[in-house]
Amino acid sequence: MKTPYQIQYEAFLAEGGIYDERHAKLYAELAEDLIAEGSYSIVFEGVAHACYTPMTLVNAPHLKCYIMAPLAVLPDFQGQRYATRLMEEAEKHLNADAIFVLGDPMHYATRYNTPHQVAFPVETQAPVECWFAKELTPGVLAQVGETASSITGAFANPIMWKEPSEQV
Ligand SMILES: CC(C)(COP(=O)(O)OP(=O)(O)OC[C@H]1O[C@@H](n2cnc3c(N)ncnc32)[C@H](O)[C@@H]1OP(=O)(O)O)[C@@H](O)C(=O)NCCC(=O)NCCS
Repeated sequence: MKTPYQIQYEAFLAEGGIYDERHAKLYAELAEDLIAEGSYSIVFEGVAHACYTPMTLVNAPHLKCYIMAPLAVLPDFQGQRYATRLMEEAEKHLNADAIFVLGDPMHYATRYNTPHQVAFPVETQAPVECWFAKELTPGVLAQVGETASSITGAFANPIMWKEPSEQV
């Protein structure tokens, strides 16, 4: 059985393009750090892994919100909805009001499609077009409206919010 570290490392290493082995190590280590800090961690059918880390909406601190990352599926198993099924499984367990993700619209825009006005929890140049939310409690993000957010621990490291080219 592969560990979360191995799944993350192998997936990002094989991805190539904007990622190289330094990114693979960075994200695999992020996963390990988040797990050590108590983030929710899910290995799905031995081939997919993700962490869900609590995040606070400043104007609605009672809401249960998470950021999902890093997410990886072993190269031989990609394109077979493992990531989608992992997210479905995690959402059943978390009892979250909303889940946020910073990432490629190709991967996330369909599933994370709730309009929102929640600011990044860390100062970043990341485009807001890549900052997605999915509410699990209907209407909750519209009700909150514009708000700052915060996060602690390994995910508060500004490097995690930079472009891949600026992370290494
Ligand atoms: C991204 C990744 C997690 C997707 O896992 P997967 O199991 O192949 O994804 P799924 O089959 O469940 O597809 C999820 C969605 O992403 C889309 N998608 C997945 N891979 C894609 C690709 N290479 N190009 C375009 N769209 C893609 C699917 O069409 C689907 O979209 P939909 O919900 O609108 O139908 C996987 O390819 C991976 O581990 N990549 C390397 C690491 C990485 O890039 N992580 C994400 C960083 S933002």
